[in-house]
Amino acid sequence: MRKRIIAGNWKMNKTVDEALELAAAIKEGIKTGDKIDVVLCPPFTDVTAVALVIQNTRIGLGGQNLHWEEKGAFTGEISAAMLRSAGCEYVIIGHSERRQYFHETDETVNRKIKTALSAGLRPIVCVGETLKEREDNLTERVLETQVEGCLAGLTAGQAAEIILAYEPVWAIGTGVVATVEQAQAAHQYIRDLLFKLYDRTVADRVRIQYGGSMKPDNSGQLLAQPDIDGGLVGGASLDAQSFLDIIHS
Ligand code: PGA
Repeated sequence: MRKRIIAGNWKMNKTVDEALELAAAIKEGIKTGDKIDVVLCPPFTDVTAVALVIQNTRIGLGGQNLHWEEKGAFTGEISAAMLRSAGCEYVIIGHSERRQYFHETDETVNRKIKTALSAGLRPIVCVGETLKEREDNLTERVLETQVEGCLAGLTAGQAAEIILAYEPVWAIGTGVVATVEQAQAAHQYIRDLLFKLYDRTVADRVRIQYGGSMKPDNSGQLLAQPDIDGGLVGGASLDAQSFLDIIHS
């Protein structure tokens, strides 16, 4: 049985004071013990403050991006070692907003995954089709290209460490959530791809989160699907109560 994982992607929201308040409210309100993994992914400037709030709890911490090089002249970038030393165990890689606005590709995602894994960070790797691609019946082909490209060259052992997030681009921040059937079908397709690329152990082990307008009123149904192992939550993770309601659903 795969352990569920709910991660909050705060995106470019929350000053340090606001982040402290939100993290403290989540810490106070959480009632799941170690039944599920809960991860907060604040902006880089908040990571250290949030790490202090959640220390000695079971809440995990993640970055929202990293650079594939270890260090050097890359103004504005953050390395895997920096994330680790600031207390992160996870890092989101290849979010569709990064692909869309910052020209990330499956190839750069692949390099970032390798860097993250060698630094001991657990990548949360995002894939998903646009509305146009879904309408053109290209969803499966897009997912296949993305999953293959992102995981290229990874051993089965490395692939098993990854968390995938299926995030249909048309559902992100739009309030339009994929139907339970659409989401389950895409998750199952991704799991079958993992079987094709690796083996049953990897396919059974990798957790696949759903992301895209997950809210307390739809999370229970989504999370009840056999291949949906958690959520990557944007908007609803910015409010402690709605994030807690998703966790407890
Ligand atoms: P959303 O974002 O929950 O606001 O749709 C999800 C994500 O982008 O990870």
